[in-house]
This record gives sequence, C-alpha cells and structure tokens, in this order.
Amino acid sequence: MPSIPSMIALGVIILGILTLVSISWPNRRGAPYWPTRMKKVESMLTIANVQPGELVYDLGCGDGRVIIMAARRFKARAVGIEIDLFRFLWCQFLITILGLRRRVKVKYGDLFAKDICEADVVFCYLLQHTNDKLEGKLMKELRPDARVVSNTFLFSALPLIAMDSETGFYVYNVGVQPEED
Ligand SMILES: C[S@@+](CC[C@H](N)C(=O)[O-])C[C@H]1O[C@@H](n2cnc3c(N)ncnc32)[C@H](O)[C@@H]1O
Repeated sequence: MPSIPSMIALGVIILGILTLVSISWPNRRGAPYWPTRMKKVESMLTIANVQPGELVYDLGCGDGRVIIMAARRFKARAVGIEIDLFRFLWCQFLITILGLRRRVKVKYGDLFAKDICEADVVFCYLLQHTNDKLEGKLMKELRPDARVVSNTFLFSALPLIAMDSETGFYVYNVGVQPEED
C-alpha cells in the first residue's frame, strides 16, 4: 500500500504533466492560451458590428469569453473551437450553467479541420504564422460579407476595414477588394 506522501507526490507529477501537455500542445498546433481582456473583447465585438442573431465563431476559444459575451451582450449565436480538452470542457460547463446551450456551441478539435462557412463574424487570437496559414481557409470558406476580427496579428491578403492600433485589433471583410493606389 503506497504511503500518503507518495500518493500526493504522484498526484502532483501527474498534474504537472497534464499542465505541460495542456500548454505545449495548443502552442504547437496554433497558439498558446492567452486570453483577451474582457474590455477588449467588448470593443472588438462592437467594432465588428455584431448583430442579434448573427453567427460568431471564435477559432481557439480558450475559456469561452468571446462566444459567451457575443451571446449574452450582443444576442448573437456563437461557436467556439478549442483544441485543449480542459478548456473545451470548461467552456461546456460555463455554457451549461449560464443557460446558453441553445445559442452557444463549442467544438473540440483543430480549427483547421472544422468547417466555418456559416460564420458571419470570425474572431481569432492566434499567432502570426498561424494567421498566415489560416488566411486561405478564411478566403475559401467564408461568404464575401463575413467579417474577420484578429487580435494583435495581421492578415496580409484580406482587406482591412477597421482597426484599433492602440489596443491592437484588426477587422477585415472577406469580400471587400483593397483600393488601388
Ligand atoms: C491566445 S488564446 C485565445 C483565447 C480566446 N480566443 C481569447 O481571445 O480569449 C488561443 C487559443 O487557441 C487555442 N488553439 C491553439 N491552436 C488551436 C487549434 N489548432 N485549434 C483549436 N484551438 C487552438 C489554444 O488552446 C488557446 O485556447
């Protein structure tokens, strides 16, 4: 029979390994977990002009703050995609206790493997090389009138329609062609 201190030590080691996997796996697949400040989430949803009933996607939804605010404050429908199992389960829990299950869904898995064609607004806070890889998917799958909001990182081929350089977020419209010089 193992002693209590050795069982505690084993528990700490297992927790440490799970934490490391939870940090390094999403980082390798697209971006580490680093949540957007709540005030900035609100500004981004406002500048993207999210309307009641619209469908907002958050690619890499973390703790679900963007999709939850989109549904509660902006009366939108929302879908989050999250590759980290713990955060996915946490989002499911929050959505359930907040009574949002009819309007907010979370999908577990890699954002690159999910169909996003129904989105009216796509939100992302990833990394520059992940945005570079994502751009083709956005252009291929989204409708021309869809808006894309990126926190901090840019899309080079999408037409920029609004930005806030102070807090660092960028709004693109997939179908708007950039003006010629
Ligand atoms: C910088 S955090 C942003 C979280 C949230 N969107 C926010 O703004 O608060 C990036 C999130 O993307 C997730 N992620 C990274 N790569 C992913 C992938 N390939 N598919 C789905 N989620 C991914 C991470 O687990 C993390 O939760």
